[in-house]
Formats: sequence, C-alpha cells, structure tokens
Amino acid sequence: MKVLVTGGAGYIGSHTTLGLLEDGHDVIVFDNLANSSVEAVRRVEELAGKKVDFREGNLLDADATDMVFAECDIDAVIHFAGLKAVGESVEKPLMYYRNNVVGTLNLLDSMEKAGVRHLVFSSSATVYGAAEHMPLPESLPLDATNPYGRTKEQIEDILSDLSEADPRWSITLLRYFNPVGAHESGQIGEDPQGRPNNLVPFVAQVAVGRRDKVVVFGNDYPTADGTGVRDYIHVMDLAAGHLAALRYMWKKTGTFRWNLGTGRGSSVLEVIEAFSEAAGRSIPYEFAPRRPGDAARSYADASAALTHLGWSAQRSLAEMCEDHWRWQSSNPSGFAREN
Ligand code: WQD
Repeated sequence: MKVLVTGGAGYIGSHTTLGLLEDGHDVIVFDNLANSSVEAVRRVEELAGKKVDFREGNLLDADATDMVFAECDIDAVIHFAGLKAVGESVEKPLMYYRNNVVGTLNLLDSMEKAGVRHLVFSSSATVYGAAEHMPLPESLPLDATNPYGRTKEQIEDILSDLSEADPRWSITLLRYFNPVGAHESGQIGEDPQGRPNNLVPFVAQVAVGRRDKVVVFGNDYPTADGTGVRDYIHVMDLAAGHLAALRYMWKKTGTFRWNLGTGRGSSVLEVIEAFSEAAGRSIPYEFAPRRPGDAARSYADASAALTHLGWSAQRSLAEMCEDHWRWQSSNPSGFAREN
C-alpha cells in the first residue's frame, strides 16, 4: 500500500513511518519541519533499508497538498501533522485552530479530489478533558479543556460528520495517552524544541545534563504518592497500533475510535525512579504547585483496541525509560538542532 504520512518527520510520525516501511508499504512523508528534523527521515530510511518519498510542505498550502496527491498514487493517509503544546495553545489559540483544523480541512479536500478516503487521525486522550471516570472508555462524552484539545475534538467531529455524509469514507480516530520511549536503536526519538512541556523528555534532559532538576507539578493529588498519574505508552507500541488500525479498516467504511494506552497508570515519582534506574544515576527534582488544568489521574480503558484490532501495548515503563535513555544519551542535543 502507498501511505501518505503527514507530520512523518515528527516523534510518533517517524516511528510509524519506520513500522510502515518494515511492513512492506511505500511511504510519502509530508512535513513542514516546523517542529521536526529531516534527519529523522534519513535515519528511518537507514533503519528500514528503504527510501521514503519526503516532501517538505505545509497543509495550509492547498495547492502543494493537492500536488502530492496528483503526483503520488496514494491509497491511505495517516495524519499526524499538527501543533500539540497545551500551554502554547492557550496563548496562541488562532495559530492552533488555523494550523490543526484548517490544515486538516485542506487535507480532506485534497483527499476527496483524489478519491482517497482511508484516513487514520492522530487524536489524543486530551479530548476526554477533566473526566473523573477511570479508566477512560472511548464511549465517554468528549470535553476538551484547552484550545489544543478542542482542535482534536473538533477534527474528530468533522471526520465523523464527513463519514456520516459520505459512507465511502473509512476513518479511524486514535486517542493516544502519553507517548514515551524510542526505537531500540537509539537512532530516532523525541526531540522537543526549547523547554520540554512533557515529563519524560524533561527528565531525560536532566539525566543527560542539559537541565539541572525536574520540577514536579504538585505532590498533593489524591494519588498513592501525591503526584499525577498518567498512562505512559511506548512509542513503538503506538506505531504498532497504527498498523493494526490500517489493517482493520482497509476493507471497512465508517468511523472507528480507539484508545491507544496501556490501561495502567504511573505517577510522576514512579517515572523519575524508573528513569533513574535506566540511566544509572540519580535525577534531582523538587516539588512545586500543581500545573493549572492538570488532572490527578488519566489512564485508558484499552480493551476495545484489543478486542477489535487484536492490539495491546507490550512494553513496560522500565523498557520505555531504557529506550528513551538510549536515544537521549546517544543524541544529547537531539537531531543536533540548536535548542
Ligand atoms: C505528565 C505528568 C504533570 C512535566 C500532555 C498533553 C496531552 C498529550 C500528552 C498531545 C503530569 C507532570 C510534567 C514536568 C511534571 N500531548 N509533569 N513536571 O499533561 O498528561 O499530557 O502530553 O497529545 O495532550 O496534555 O503530559 O508529560 O505534560 O505531564 O510534574 O516538567 O507529569 O503534572 O502529572 P500530560 P505531561
């Protein structure tokens, strides 16, 4: 199959592109490199022993997006491209709605024109908002609480309305929990620009000496050790989930939505401990007040993906930290971009 991967130079996109190549697919990566590096694509080619058709471009450029479909005989699309920093989305909502929602509308127009109607969309557990009901099932009403999360929720609505209106579409919405880890080679991994918003890349930068300590946002949550609990999932398991979704949907139409999580929660302190074990060094941290908008706990009901896709996360928190550490320690400055 020939698969277009938007945002395929990014963290989850590059790992999924590698999985697609290893599964025998041909891949076109369309990425504006705003928050990623073409070096990641080069390394994916090296790991797979197979070329990627890489095209730098922006989904907001409708002509360029049309051109990709006109020039390549695409069978399906996996759509990762999007901005994803919650804090930044609060400061710059228009940038997020334009980039994420308008960009997706352009992509859908190009797909429609080309008669390509198989789409896997990179959604997020953030669409569940401040739901207290744990674990989180896909049937929960959505209630995102920040502009980033609302772009994901709106795109999910757009996609289900589209497939309602035109039953030829086959659409899968994948709701990721907290992606961490890296390919076992240590050659590709998460390379956030500037100060990492997320816990594990921040912990990794402390472990490698780029930052002096972890700030733990809140130790007064109603959890076992008082720190926030999340469902961390290995990026390789996440990539496998995309391949399983593509296989499942290929001969079906309609809209499918699956949680991609482990179904298990780990606290901030448990993550710091596991990473310290993996890196073989202590990781300094200090407690600070809760981060506004953070929930005490969030973890997936991952049973539907197992039942329908035959997919479940295989890797442990220890493996996530070991693989993340191998990437970070082999690439202290990421893909050598000045952060
Ligand atoms: C995890 C835990 C923090 C940083 C976000 C997005 C979500 C998705 C995944 C895109 C929380 C604590 C964090 C730090 C800390 N992204 N923490 N110190 O907030 O669960 O989810 O990333 O789809 O949309 O909301 O992930 O890694 O930011 O936080 O104590 O420096 O670590 O309070 O308990 P989060 P996170």
